[in-house]
Amino acid sequence: MNLLRRHGLFDASVPRYTSYPPANHFQADVGRKVQRGWLEALPDGSEVSIYVHIPFCKRLCWFCACRTQGTKTLRPVTRYIQTLCAEIDAVRALLPESIKMSRLHLGGGTPTLLHPDAMNTLLDRIFAAFGTASDFEFSVEIDPTEANPDLLDLLANRGLSRASIGIQDFSPKVQAAIGREQSFEQTKSVLDRLRSAGVPRVNFDLLYGLPFQTPDSYRQTLDQVLKLAPNRLAIYGYAHVPWVSKRQMMIPESALPGAEARFALAEQSREIFTGAGYDPIGIDHFALPDDGLAVAKREYRLRRNFQGYTDDPATCLIGFGASAISRFPDGYCQNAAATAAYSERVETDGLAGHRGYEMAARDHLIERLIEDIMCYFRLDPEALTAAFPDDARIIKEKLFRLWRRYRDIAVPDKMGFELTPEFQSLARIVAHQLDDFVAGTAAHSRAV
Ligand SMILES: C[S@@+](CC[C@H](N)C(=O)[O-])C[C@H]1O[C@@H](n2cnc3c(N)ncnc32)[C@H](O)[C@@H]1O
Ligand code: SF4
Repeated sequence: MNLLRRHGLFDASVPRYTSYPPANHFQADVGRKVQRGWLEALPDGSEVSIYVHIPFCKRLCWFCACRTQGTKTLRPVTRYIQTLCAEIDAVRALLPESIKMSRLHLGGGTPTLLHPDAMNTLLDRIFAAFGTASDFEFSVEIDPTEANPDLLDLLANRGLSRASIGIQDFSPKVQAAIGREQSFEQTKSVLDRLRSAGVPRVNFDLLYGLPFQTPDSYRQTLDQVLKLAPNRLAIYGYAHVPWVSKRQMMIPESALPGAEARFALAEQSREIFTGAGYDPIGIDHFALPDDGLAVAKREYRLRRNFQGYTDDPATCLIGFGASAISRFPDGYCQNAAATAAYSERVETDGLAGHRGYEMAARDHLIERLIEDIMCYFRLDPEALTAAFPDDARIIKEKLFRLWRRYRDIAVPDKMGFELTPEFQSLARIVAHQLDDFVAGTAAHSRAV
């Protein structure tokens, strides 16, 4: 505990490193300028991942920091789907004919609030634009409190291969404090429906560090989760950032567990899920050994992306919708964030790129160093030098600096760097040491 404290685990606010550089370093003048060229430059035969953002929810949960807006009617959603279709057409026109999609993920917000007709329209347009690769996977974020059975059946019939279900915590007291009521029975019935309709894999999202969570209440949630037997879990630390997400002002701050109590909750979930046969993946995911993520980890194919960890082989991600981020071989491009600004850009230009980042050669190296720490907690100088032969000196310097700073928590190894298992929770802090940007801390969540 002392070493964790000494290295800042209980005080630091650092990026989650779902991208490098983190999105707060994207620049306003990039997006529009580079987007068209980067789309046109994708080689024939490429595989891409597709992310579609649906920024609407019928109720806004107080804890949620995602980019979304409340709506009582489906009217703005229907208009938004039309804009999405126009954006898909404009992007598709710039891509080579033979491009294939390796992953399709609908996220939000709440994609399951779409009327089945609107969902069909959207999926028709996506599948008409992009053929599917051989290991294609189709996933959708599902709010079990907003999941019409007809829509679930429709998704299953359209080939949904992974349902990503938001749970957070089953304790009624915690749920009342975070503005999200969702019973175990309701969740189970959505899950049963999906499974009986033939959806083969299910992910759950849980949160630790929520108000009124105690080791006992959390254990009950985890036991209930185990009964539902998800294939994969993401267990995130609750990011309390009311200056970013105003609705979090409804959360009673005095009921939030302190940093050490948060860490204990994270450790509790690690013990319970690894004890139940799940493989730990990176800092906050767990997967059954036959799940794609666990297989990718064993085969050293694990990667970091905006959903956390992925086994997606594609190096290009195209994001559609307000605030969606695309990843190209040469950098990032984020669409205009507000729905009105996004729609206006699509109407005038077809594309909605707004801000972004052009990667320099050195950024690619730092990205790889950070990804290796976040995925495997280690840096292997031989593999790094083979991948970046011109950067041997920088690699050596970076390793040397890590060694000087983290000698007491690293596996003894004269050449490389590896965090010992009991200190892997420090991965984000170690990654931050590799980061070339002097990041302001206010934009980020706690390290644990
Ligand atoms: C984009 S949300 C969509 C979930 C879906 N609409 C639902 O309600 O189930 C995806 C996940 O982000 C995570 N999330 C949202 N707000 C968060 C916060 N403040 N801190 C950490 N994770 C958060 C939650 O675990 C949530 O399930
Ligand atoms: S958790 Fe889901 S339903 Fe709740 S506000 Fe966030 S995106 Fe909307």
